[in-house]
Order: sequence, then C-alpha cells, then structure tokens
Amino acid sequence: MVTQRLVQIREVTEKDLSTILSIEYKCFKDPYPLSLLNRLRVMHPDGFLVAEADGKVVGYVIVVIKWGATGHIMAIGVDPIYRRQQIGSTLIKHAMDRLRAKGAKLVRLEVRKSNIGAQQFYLKLGFNRMEEIPYYYEDGETAIAMERSIED
Ligand SMILES: CC(C)(COP(=O)(O)OP(=O)(O)OC[C@H]1O[C@@H](n2cnc3c(N)ncnc32)[C@H](O)[C@@H]1OP(=O)(O)O)[C@@H](O)C(=O)NCCC(=O)NCCS
Repeated sequence: MVTQRLVQIREVTEKDLSTILSIEYKCFKDPYPLSLLNRLRVMHPDGFLVAEADGKVVGYVIVVIKWGATGHIMAIGVDPIYRRQQIGSTLIKHAMDRLRAKGAKLVRLEVRKSNIGAQQFYLKLGFNRMEEIPYYYEDGETAIAMERSIED
C-alpha cells in the first residue's frame, strides 16, 4: 500500500526564510539571496507559499502577477529527499488557484534548458514549451519559456 504523506500548504512567514534559503542552495547553482526572498515575502505574501511535511518546511513556490492577466512562477523548490511525492504539483496547484482568484488567465515561467527534470514536471502539469530565450541566465544559459492557461 502506498501511503500519501500529509502535506500542508500555507503562506510563508519570516521564520521560514532560513529553511527556504537552505532548500534554494540544494536546488539551484544561483540561489536567491535571503534579502531577495524577504523582499518577495513582503511584496507578495499571498503568492509565496510553503509546503510543510513532518512538521517542517520542505518546499516553496513564489508566484506574482505581471503584465495584467499573466501569472509568473518566479521560483519553486522541493527538498531533494521529499521529491517525487507530488509536493511540487500541490504547490503549483495552490499557486494557480491564487493566481486564478486574482484574475490571471495565463501562467508563464522560464526554466534552464539543461533542467530537463523540471521541464518534464511542468509538461506533466499541462505547460507547453513556447520559446527559447538565449543568454537569459547570468552564466549565459538559454531559458525555455513555458506557459499554460489557468482558466480550466
Ligand atoms: C521540479 C521540482 C519542483 C518538482 O518537485 P516534485 O515535488 O518532485 O514534483 P512532483 O512529485 O509533484 O512531480 C510530479 C510529476 O512531474 C514529473 N517529474 C517531476 N520531477 C521530475 C524529474 N526530475 N524528471 C522527470 N519527471 C519529473 C513526474 O511525472 C512526476 O510524477 P511521478 O513522480 O508520478 O512520475 C523539484 O524537482 C525541484 O525542486 N527541482 C529543483 C528546483 C527546480 O528545478 N525548480 C524549477 C526551476 S524553473
């Protein structure tokens, strides 16, 4: 029998930021600094969600509304030992509910061309590859822009 892990999604608090920073370091070679995470928390508290499991924060997502009706996924990360347990999908679904409630019709993101796992994740969630953006990242890597409608 497969047991579904109990995961709670809630808005971020200032106390969560050090754990989120440590997840950022496990996820990315260019992690967001604490100052930026805190600025995003202050500016977009309802778009900065965390996933809690086993009494601790194990993942987070940051979404904002840009260009009127377009939501943008700025970051998502799940602690490596908690991956492939639907935590990332649950975070995205909650974030899209928030964006939909604010009137967004479309959600967009950029992902490193080499990050095949994340692209598979987004494809599974109904995103489509739209375009390549050369030199998007500071180290010169190309981004893949992906989008999906959030009306359905
Ligand atoms: C991408 C990420 C958030 C996914 O989180 P997760 O909790 O493991 O994702 P889920 O368990 O919800 O995955 C849902 C489905 O997406 C697909 N998927 C997820 N990760 C995948 C991977 N590495 N390779 C291939 N498919 C993957 C699978 O179809 C998976 O379903 P399955 O496990 O039943 O096969 C996580 O791998 C992560 O934090 N990566 C590092 C940070 C990152 O790359 N963020 C995105 C930058 S734009």
